[in-house]
Amino acid sequence: MKGNSIGKDFVITCFGESHGRCVGVVVDGCPAGLPLSEQDIQKELDKRIPPKPEIVSARREKDIVEILSGIFNGFTTGAPICTLVWNKEAIPGEYDLIKDTPRPGHADYPARIKYGSFNDYRGGGKFSGRITVAFVMAGAIVKKLLGLFGVEVLAYTIEIGKVKLRTIPTPEEIRKNTYKTAVRCPDLERAKEMEKAILKAKKEGDSTGGIVECIASNVPVGVGEPLFDCLDADIAKMLFDVPAVKGVEFGAGFKAARLKGSENNDLYMMRDRKIVTLTNNAGGILGGLSSGMPILIRAAIKPTPSISKEQKTVNLSKMEETLIRVKGRYDPCIVPKTVPVIESAVAIVLADHMLRAGFIPKVLGGQK
Ligand SMILES: Cc1cc2nc3c(=O)[nH]c(=O)nc-3n(C[C@H](O)[C@H](O)[C@H](O)COP(=O)(O)O)c2cc1C
Repeated sequence: MKGNSIGKDFVITCFGESHGRCVGVVVDGCPAGLPLSEQDIQKELDKRIPPKPEIVSARREKDIVEILSGIFNGFTTGAPICTLVWNKEAIPGEYDLIKDTPRPGHADYPARIKYGSFNDYRGGGKFSGRITVAFVMAGAIVKKLLGLFGVEVLAYTIEIGKVKLRTIPTPEEIRKNTYKTAVRCPDLERAKEMEKAILKAKKEGDSTGGIVECIASNVPVGVGEPLFDCLDADIAKMLFDVPAVKGVEFGAGFKAARLKGSENNDLYMMRDRKIVTLTNNAGGILGGLSSGMPILIRAAIKPTPSISKEQKTVNLSKMEETLIRVKGRYDPCIVPKTVPVIESAVAIVLADHMLRAGFIPKVLGGQK
């Protein structure tokens, strides 16, 4: 089974299943000399724990990271870094129901046809959102690395249900407020309305989706490898590898199709002796290369497929239509949980491309 690794110079390989023993990641290509501790990774993993369980459920036991390799005296060595969390709460029997009756909106049916009885269906197996713990662990490493080069990646919720943010928040607002709210939205007023939208869907036995925005600042000009490794193409690929992501756009995105050239073009100007653009409809990427403007990305997240409403499905053993009511932990909205995942996914691609373009050396701070 292939397709578990991504990246060229900075390669991550994810492993584990929702109800297997662990979820982990091997990060290969991280430069030597990056100070790294378990706390650095734990801090990011903790962002997955929502403050309000009625909005987003959490595993009762906190995920505790273990670093198995690649660190010596508190610094990365340049060797592969393997980190994992143990699945302490895996209850395999809980999911026997879905063995023969695929849950609508999940990977159960195509996975059963492709892998037959070898598919680990427990909690969605490797298709579960739980695998994104690996993205966040790798993301913690790259965000620390990118930080040394002034690059900051920030994700936050801009839409849940029909509640939308009207303006792009400032980086200060994002840093200060995003994780104060259960829905991971930097606008405190809108966040309350988003919570209400989630609770309404929950009351109806249903779920709701939304949009996560991500800004990457201070990415140098010229990052990206056209033709087939364009920066936007690689970010989009990584984001579509996040379960439940159904759309990705940059800058003006789909709105650009409705603008005139004169409205959509970002005009160049000088500010503090730097070349910038007046607007950022391109979302910081032109021709597959970073333009120096903030990279602005939005990812559309579908409503949680597991809902408590009764739904039609087929019993695959009997080849008969039947009904299913999904049991177990059930989040009426997964958007808040995807925020640190989207942030990590974007950071992982940026680190790979900055290494490839030579903006990040293979050994940090020179040899001592
Ligand atoms: C962080 C995260 C958490 C998720 N949690 C759940 C969940 O609790 N319940 C659920 O039905 N789907 C959840 N999902 C979504 C499913 O894993 C996903 O929709 C499913 O595997 C089908 O994949 P697709 O939507 O990409 O086609 C989660 C996704 C992510 C990224």
